[in-house]
Amino acid sequence: MFALVVLLVLGCLSQEAWSCSCGIRHPQSVYCDSAIVMRVKFVGQKVSEKISNRVQYRIKTTKIFKAPEGYEDIQDLYTSISESLCGYQHASTNKSEEFIVAGHIVDNNVFINSCSFIAPWASLTYCQKRGFLQAYAKNCECKIKQCSIPPCEVDDDRQCLWTDHLTRQKSSHSGHQAANLACVNNGNSLCIWDSLKSRIYSLSAKSATK
Ligand SMILES: *[C@@H]1O[C@H](CO)[C@@H](O)[C@H](O)[C@H]1NC(C)=O
Repeated sequence: MFALVVLLVLGCLSQEAWSCSCGIRHPQSVYCDSAIVMRVKFVGQKVSEKISNRVQYRIKTTKIFKAPEGYEDIQDLYTSISESLCGYQHASTNKSEEFIVAGHIVDNNVFINSCSFIAPWASLTYCQKRGFLQAYAKNCECKIKQCSIPPCEVDDDRQCLWTDHLTRQKSSHSGHQAANLACVNNGNSLCIWDSLKSRIYSLSAKSATK
């Protein structure tokens, strides 16, 4: 225990900002960059007996959007016990509420942390739901580049420039591009923003499935 404390202290000193500062990510990037994305209900929580210093969240999976083979029936999510080590703390006690969860996999276990994309399913926009259900997966070859300080340019045809946060200070997912758009292949290997509501999108979705 003492060794651990020393390690933690040294860790703090060696890193200027020892905190979980999470970069913001477009939901499409969340989908494409995460090992596992699913819709779940949080039904229980305890300190893990299996993995030390972890909290174990018991979940019921209602929908898998993305997972490696063999991960269709995940029952537990693990996170650090300590908030300062980016442990995720689930705020809702409603066991029927559905959450979208993007996690990563280490040694066959699914982990989440305070930077993970975890949100009530009901809080997503219609377009985001459509994105997670289908559209994002088809367009993972298109990349979203965040523009923090203008002027910004894309590096190649496969990128779309994300500028939501230039007009909104909040690091939320409610900006127009995050709420309504996906970066999709227009059929000519050019990636462009497209509304997930639009008819044009369903055409490019078809061409992307070929
Ligand atoms: C719990 O979540 C369900 C599903 O979202 C909702 O219908 C219900 O009203 C919630 N219950 C409470 C107590 O908030």
